[in-house]
Amino acid sequence: MMAEKGGYKHFMHKEIWEQPRAIADTLRGRMLLSEGDVHFDTWNLAAEQVKSFTKVTILACGTSWHSGVAGKHMIESLARLPVEVELASEFRYRDPIVEKSHLVIAISQSGETADTLGAFKEAKRLGAHTLAICNVIGSAMTRESDLHILTNAGPEIGVASTKAFTTQLVTLYLLAVKLGRMRGTLSVEAAQEHLTQLTQVPKMIEDVLKCEPQVKRVAREFMNAQDFLFLGRGPMHPVALEGALKLKEISYIHAEGYAGGEMKHGPIALIDEKMPVVVLAPKHPHVAYEKIIGNIEEVRARGGKVIAVIDEDDAQADSLADHVIRIPAASALLAPVVATIPLQLLAYHVAEMRGNDVDQPRNLAKSVTVE
Ligand code: AGP
Repeated sequence: MMAEKGGYKHFMHKEIWEQPRAIADTLRGRMLLSEGDVHFDTWNLAAEQVKSFTKVTILACGTSWHSGVAGKHMIESLARLPVEVELASEFRYRDPIVEKSHLVIAISQSGETADTLGAFKEAKRLGAHTLAICNVIGSAMTRESDLHILTNAGPEIGVASTKAFTTQLVTLYLLAVKLGRMRGTLSVEAAQEHLTQLTQVPKMIEDVLKCEPQVKRVAREFMNAQDFLFLGRGPMHPVALEGALKLKEISYIHAEGYAGGEMKHGPIALIDEKMPVVVLAPKHPHVAYEKIIGNIEEVRARGGKVIAVIDEDDAQADSLADHVIRIPAASALLAPVVATIPLQLLAYHVAEMRGNDVDQPRNLAKSVTVE
């Protein structure tokens, strides 16, 4: 068993560390840098059809839903198509509006999640064009869809999803570039710039993994906390949601993920000296850096403990937070991939220090094949 885990104590830890390789596999053979285009070998949509889409609906559950929220930012910004992200478990039960001009995307690691599959089939029945983004070849969603794209993360054994999430983000980024090129909203040069940035992601993930000793210190200090709050704005909001979900799933500590601007509309009441708040604050105008610094100040003013995830050269946030975790600077759309890694490590180490069964957390199954 230790051999299967490659010397790691848990599959989850191994899978966190596999991410540079997994993301390289997601990208392999798909980036046509000189043409400023993306190649998916399964792609079967003509430019006219792509131009005729009026809306994208993303269906997913759990972690895959979080990648959908990040994907909305990518597709809207590069392909200028409106995107709605739906909880697949709710979709069928509320008379959804689905039209032939809609592209419906199911995102699922397993490709077998009953709620997502059910919603996806319903969208297809209502006439939408369907695209499945899955990690498992030959899974039900890949068979049900008009088009599928594999994330190529390799098998994910830990119940808490890690490399499946970051490879979904990268796949969605590639898809956004592809749609942008086909719809004419992205020039060759702009696409080349996005693809060049994508080529740097595996190395960035290698670099960010070096924050593990610092994350372990934070985990030791807060392993007995009752609650955690995670804050992020813009494309960092789904990262906050994912950080909170990861911690809940394996450490059994209550955690909430919030968009930074929402803090004053409720959760601020929870903040006291016992409340650790993880603030995602990479320095980028699209993630409203000054506003997130404001969140840090508000938390500190109420005695809360701030753990800030910041760019490696950021001195301002450094002086304000109780703990900082430094990550390599990335563009607004790629920062979610990079910033997720320390949150996965935080959840892992807190759970491990609490002696929990990290790979098989209580009450959870890897794939939820019943509604
Ligand atoms: C992730 O850590 C969870 N175990 C869970 O939320 C999962 O993402 C969800 O059940 C969806 O699974 P899928 O991606 O296989 O559809």
